[in-house]
Amino acid sequence: MFSTSFIITLIGIALCAIALLSVVSWAGQSLISLSGTRQAHDDSTRTMRTAIRNRSEPKQAASEIGAWNGYRDFIVAKIVRECIHTTSLYLAPEDGKPIPGFKPGQHITLRFQLEGKSKPLVRCYSLSCGPGKAYYRVSVRHVEDRGGDKGPGVVSNIINTKSKVGDRIPIKAPSGHFFLDEESSDVVVLLAGGIGVTPMVSMLDRLIQTQSQRSVVLIHGSRNGNEQQFKEWLRECSSKYPNVHVVSCYSQPLPSDVQGVDYQAEGFVTLDLLKALLPSPQCQFYLCGPPPFMDSLYNGLGEWGVEESRINFEQFGPSTIKKSSAGHSEVHDEPDPVTFCESDEIALWSSSFNSILEMAEANDVEIESGCRAGSCGTCETAIAAGKVRYTTGEEVNCNPGCCLPCIAVPDGPLELEA
Ligand code: FES
Repeated sequence: MFSTSFIITLIGIALCAIALLSVVSWAGQSLISLSGTRQAHDDSTRTMRTAIRNRSEPKQAASEIGAWNGYRDFIVAKIVRECIHTTSLYLAPEDGKPIPGFKPGQHITLRFQLEGKSKPLVRCYSLSCGPGKAYYRVSVRHVEDRGGDKGPGVVSNIINTKSKVGDRIPIKAPSGHFFLDEESSDVVVLLAGGIGVTPMVSMLDRLIQTQSQRSVVLIHGSRNGNEQQFKEWLRECSSKYPNVHVVSCYSQPLPSDVQGVDYQAEGFVTLDLLKALLPSPQCQFYLCGPPPFMDSLYNGLGEWGVEESRINFEQFGPSTIKKSSAGHSEVHDEPDPVTFCESDEIALWSSSFNSILEMAEANDVEIESGCRAGSCGTCETAIAAGKVRYTTGEEVNCNPGCCLPCIAVPDGPLELEA
């Protein structure tokens, strides 16, 4: 005779096996489907690309009508709770005039003036909708407020708990180098960890808007169904558009989460999962998520043989990927003096700082910052004398005679207008 606990264990093992088989079966179908779709749509995709190009010309011209420099006042027009810890703000221009389009994946820079504080806080958030609407939308995860008045939780706390329709927020125009390549006909693979899904939602929205026939695979890692952003919308896209495949991975599903309905795979987003789902590494990959997610997938894709030019990723603050490849400069460790002219402060550079911005903050020198990863231009500072080097090893987009202290280190004695 078997004991009751033994029988329960056997039932548990059987259920797990059934769940795994359903994922494998789903993956197999998708793999066949993706391969077939890719071949079958080669011609139509070329046609679609031409169509998109033709359509985009008047849109781009129109987008310039609403362009602006610096900050422009926007009003919170609508607030939507996307999951237990994420809130979307729909932002419309206060002047009621047109707003420019943007490339799906780009971000906007928002300025928050806190009561009783002389200096505003600046934050960059990816746009979480496609272009061509009368508003911009950002979706912000509520992160723990770690105290102080500048910490990472301060603004997300305001947005998630205090924002009201009618609030005024000054905003810089959309920018950023992370965006969808709309000219490519390759399979689009959008890899998102948690709130990193926001730029992917923008890209997917755009692909749907333009009726693209490219195969799109969006893989979203979340803890469970309560914490997955845009769950219903993603599910709707997956069922409505044959070329869109959404795979939700829950690392800790709730008892109420149903595999095959709420999520497709249990666990984290891994390279093995990608290999099982995708027809080949010849896809265009877009990554955005927390550091472990970014590091493991970026390096995993490299090991799989994905060319670097096919991997696009969003670098924001601590999520910056540590590339193992050449070109990642080492931090300069000479004790060069750095002079902050306007603050009348001179300090010796130390390799304990990752950037001049960090050094400035440690010396109470105020430099406005947003993304802290060289994307938004908020920290741009004029160089009075000397040179800087960039830690990213990539091209930097800033005005002549200026630098981006968030990703720069001194290259010899340096004087900054800060
Ligand atoms: S803070 Fe965004 S570029 Fe430096």
